[in-house]
Amino acid sequence: MKRMTRVVDLHSFGNSNEIRVCHARLNLTVDLDNEQLRGSVTLTVKRQPGCPANAPLILDSKNLAIAQVWAHVPGKGKVPTPYHLEDARTTKILGTPLVITMPRGVNEISIDYNTKEHAEALQWLPAAGARRHKFLFTQSESIMARTWIPLQDSPSVRITYDATIAVPSGVKAVMASKHMPRGEANLYRFAMTQSIPSYLIALAVGELEFRPLGPRTGVYAQPSVIDAAAWEFAETEQMLKKIERRYGPYRWGRWDILVLPESFPLGGMENPMLTFATPTLLAGDRSLVSVGVHELAHSKSGNQVTNATWRDFWLNEGFTTYIERRIIEDLYGADYADMQIVLGEEDLAEALSTLPAADQILHIDLTDRDPDEALTDIAYEKGALFLRQMEKVFGRKRWDAFLRQYFDHFAFQSITTAQFEDYLQEQLLDRHPRLARRINVKQWLYEPGLPAHEKHTSTLLAAVEASAKSWTGGTVAANAIDTKSWSAHEWVRFLRQLPKLSPEQMAELDSVFAFTNRTNAEIAHQWLLMSVRNDYRAADQRLESFLATVGRRKFVLPLYKELAKTTAGKDRARELYSRSRHFYHFLVTRSVEDALAK
Ligand code: BES
Ligand code: ZN
Repeated sequence: MKRMTRVVDLHSFGNSNEIRVCHARLNLTVDLDNEQLRGSVTLTVKRQPGCPANAPLILDSKNLAIAQVWAHVPGKGKVPTPYHLEDARTTKILGTPLVITMPRGVNEISIDYNTKEHAEALQWLPAAGARRHKFLFTQSESIMARTWIPLQDSPSVRITYDATIAVPSGVKAVMASKHMPRGEANLYRFAMTQSIPSYLIALAVGELEFRPLGPRTGVYAQPSVIDAAAWEFAETEQMLKKIERRYGPYRWGRWDILVLPESFPLGGMENPMLTFATPTLLAGDRSLVSVGVHELAHSKSGNQVTNATWRDFWLNEGFTTYIERRIIEDLYGADYADMQIVLGEEDLAEALSTLPAADQILHIDLTDRDPDEALTDIAYEKGALFLRQMEKVFGRKRWDAFLRQYFDHFAFQSITTAQFEDYLQEQLLDRHPRLARRINVKQWLYEPGLPAHEKHTSTLLAAVEASAKSWTGGTVAANAIDTKSWSAHEWVRFLRQLPKLSPEQMAELDSVFAFTNRTNAEIAHQWLLMSVRNDYRAADQRLESFLATVGRRKFVLPLYKELAKTTAGKDRARELYSRSRHFYHFLVTRSVEDALAK
């Protein structure tokens, strides 16, 4: 039995079940000096069956200054139409509903508006060093699109858009969409012709250079890192071919990567056609490209088939984490993929040991919660483990065929966990009842903890473990450990599984392996975490500079949390934080402030 697809999204005020936005035309001026976006958005809407004749259009907005709303009345043109911000319903998480009167027959409205200070999606970086102009980037996922565009900000509402973006001289604008021929100087035009959820709308403005990498791929970055970026991501075309071979044609035309300045709060963000990436991936040895593969995997799970609500987030991230490692296996072999799988299982064990039962459920209850705060490794790693277990039960051939067909069947739709479950039942479980008995899908989706599954092993990590064991009691058998072939992942694993060490033992390790001076962000992060834990003060300077120059939440937040475990450490954390606060994106400041408030 198929369920009805009326979706309840607790994180949007939008009345898309009555009147649904289907296209947005953005016309924005980027005022770098005043750190403001100014202009208008024109929304095309469709009345849904059963919509009352006098229903208003309800949009999401947060911290926006609305100047005027216009209705495009057939035969009359643009006329002002009444609207109000419904302050009584404002919440800290969701913002304020924008309620617009819809005259009969109108299916297009325009909103003149500007952003205000502290628009959560936006980060404005000052000119500094080689950067002669300010830099702006957006991060809309999960529910921050509403802080720079008034719209129905739910992943269940898919829209196409086009945009005209005016920028000052000396900088370029890029959007995660098709780049159209430019109009006048300093006027950039874009079009997204595939329907996407609002959290995938993205813009960056700054001094950017472009390097083609292949027929469909290329990289944008600030001039100072463009060469490094082009080298690091040289394999993008290869990656595209691998994902297409397994899961069907790439449906977005181009796949470019934009390397952002250090403040970017994420490893990567799967903005369509243009992945946004942290510069910490530029390790110089291609050891961190799996983040690129992850964002590419989202071109299927997330962008082509999208979670309908944030409860269903695992449909985005669990699938993507699973696919990421399948592609890694295709590109670099099973040993390398196994290593990432096992490291992921360790992250999962850690999450399960700290999260309350309710938060260990894939179909998580997010009532009254901010999705950005509640979404954890459960979605990524328990989600991926579930899919890997499906693969083991049904065999690769059947499972891969199912996935490919799933991506086609739901292409350019947003779906719920229940819809996935129904489709799985019909297309796979019912067709192989004997195999289906070997996995309890309901338990995986709706219960805490971990159902029975096959344990994964990694020969590479087993070797690392043996090496670490040979290191005992403060003396390093440096020549007994063959580390020449180690990737960043092996180093991280080596460090992770050492017991609590004395500052002297830390110094010993440091003298042999020079951890404090490592530039690979994964290794440096793990080492600094241990330095705080083991009170190794020789790393203090490096910790300070790391926190002041890396804005990626995954690295920054655990360090502050670790510091905050002691009273003295918490004071130090607050002091370091106050110095670097201006450098971090809202996604990071909010989480760090939470952690330091307790
Ligand atoms: N879509 C996510 C980033 C995200 C999730 C932003 C939730 C806001 C809310 C992206 O694909 C992601 O998962 N990035 C990871 C890297 C990945 C390799 C695990 C990150 O930034 O660490
Ligand atoms: Zn992801």
